[in-house]
Amino acid sequence: MTPVTAPDPSTLMLALPKGRLADQTLALFGAAGLPLPEGNAGRKLILASSDGAMRYIMAKPGDVPTFVEYGAADLGVCGLDTLRESRRHVYEPLLLPFGYCRLSLAAPANRPDTPLRYASQPRVVTKYPNLTADFFRARGVNAEIITLHGSVELGPLVGLADLIVDLVETGNTLRANGLVETRTIMEIQAVLIVNRAAYHLKRSAVESVIESLRQHLAKAQHSGQAGLHLAAAGAGAG
Ligand code: PRP
Repeated sequence: MTPVTAPDPSTLMLALPKGRLADQTLALFGAAGLPLPEGNAGRKLILASSDGAMRYIMAKPGDVPTFVEYGAADLGVCGLDTLRESRRHVYEPLLLPFGYCRLSLAAPANRPDTPLRYASQPRVVTKYPNLTADFFRARGVNAEIITLHGSVELGPLVGLADLIVDLVETGNTLRANGLVETRTIMEIQAVLIVNRAAYHLKRSAVESVIESLRQHLAKAQHSGQAGLHLAAAGAGAG
């Protein structure tokens, strides 16, 4: 077994969310000429690039901001939903052009859409209790928030809740379950995040990754590829 090596300013540890976002991140990194992990992940959780410059942690999506905030990973990729829900403090120098969806409030199609402030303590199921609490608090609504870990659309169908807060991409899941989107809470896409200390202690290696991605994305945007958005914020955002 390869021992975990001491921090080296020229090598970077990157946390990826297992699944579709990881595939899209690796495709982007490859196109931008960054070192890719060697071999197939299988059950292996840390993979290194052939030149040893980058190591990749394959993490559960919700855990990526935790690895990065604590410096177990220097960089990571996750959705803005996961990042904001986690309340983790990291730099977020670059939005990435995939993982587009939105976090929305949805209700049964036959429920009258009255202003939220008239709702008396609505029950809301969600995988995003923090963002949901923020949303209702900002509107002065005392909502009862129930956390589920998947298929939150079930909530109103089985009488567990009046409303849901969940991700919407195509809207097919809502439609199939007789629900309609009533408010968009936030627009979501993937984001590159950086540990605050690593950004300074490994500045040259971290900047080189950000710059390679920025240049590749700018070129792709220039050549008219759809759906590319660069973050206006610098590394200080976060
Ligand atoms: C997500 C989300 C919705 C669905 C939205 O669920 O929670 O259920 O996708 O996509 P759509 O608008 O294109 O239908 P996911 O597939 O991640 O599964 P989960 O609900 O079990 O978390």
